[in-house]
Amino acid sequence: VVRTHNRESRGGPDFTTFRRVPDHSPEGEVVFVREDDPRCRELEELGFTVTGYSWGANLRLDETCDLTRLNERVANVAQDGFTIRELHVADLALVVELERRTADDYPVTLATNHVAPSLETLIDLLAAGARAWGAFTGDELIAVTLAKSRGERWNSEFTSVLSQFRGRGIGSAVKAASLVALFNDGHRWFSTGGAESNSASLGANLALGYVLEPRWRTYVKSLE
Ligand SMILES: CC(C)(COP(=O)(O)OP(=O)(O)OC[C@H]1O[C@@H](n2cnc3c(N)ncnc32)[C@H](O)[C@@H]1OP(=O)(O)O)[C@@H](O)C(=O)NCCC(=O)NCCS
Repeated sequence: VVRTHNRESRGGPDFTTFRRVPDHSPEGEVVFVREDDPRCRELEELGFTVTGYSWGANLRLDETCDLTRLNERVANVAQDGFTIRELHVADLALVVELERRTADDYPVTLATNHVAPSLETLIDLLAAGARAWGAFTGDELIAVTLAKSRGERWNSEFTSVLSQFRGRGIGSAVKAASLVALFNDGHRWFSTGGAESNSASLGANLALGYVLEPRWRTYVKSLE
């Protein structure tokens, strides 16, 4: 049994789109609660214990924001010879291939589990208004980020960079490109999240200015 408390109501990121949590976790009953939620105490009194953490972060921009640093990230990567642009339906087969190659690098936890999307899933996402950006070297797609609106808030659903191109500013640059484009289209609130163990993802998002919200706890109560 998996229950998720408060993710949406507090405006934090959620992991529903590609999150696959078994109905009957072998570990017992699993509940995700933000650490500032009074229900943490109630759960502890009921015998739940914390088995892991995940994080959420928000970036709120306004008209006074200076996007120079975001634009610089994109420009630096362009200077290194990579092309960053928004992706369209014709690019989605490349996204499927990239996500297939990076799928095993996303940390799998009870709170965060990424399933490489199929072409049909991606086509449906774009048709429903999601938007994606990618980085290319020549014709090869080496990085992708996909954002989906959840009301006023644009949440990053997934971001990945081919392993041999990591640590060169490319992941943060594709995300910066998405933020600038969405900002220019009038959007101001962005969210993201991930497993506590994912320091690369956390580092890339903090570098872009995302601000961490209180952590999410994964509570588990063992089956008797
Ligand atoms: C997460 C991921 C997309 C980051 O992409 P990347 O291109 O390697 O990241 P960048 O090079 O743009 O790094 C940006 C910042 O994060 C920091 N960072 C990058 N890798 C890091 C690591 N392993 N540990 C700590 N910080 C790290 C860098 O210091 C950098 O900050 P700076 O630019 O101010 O120096 C990439 O590691 C990846 O594809 N991981 C597998 C899939 C995944 O887990 N996706 C995220 C979940 S949605």
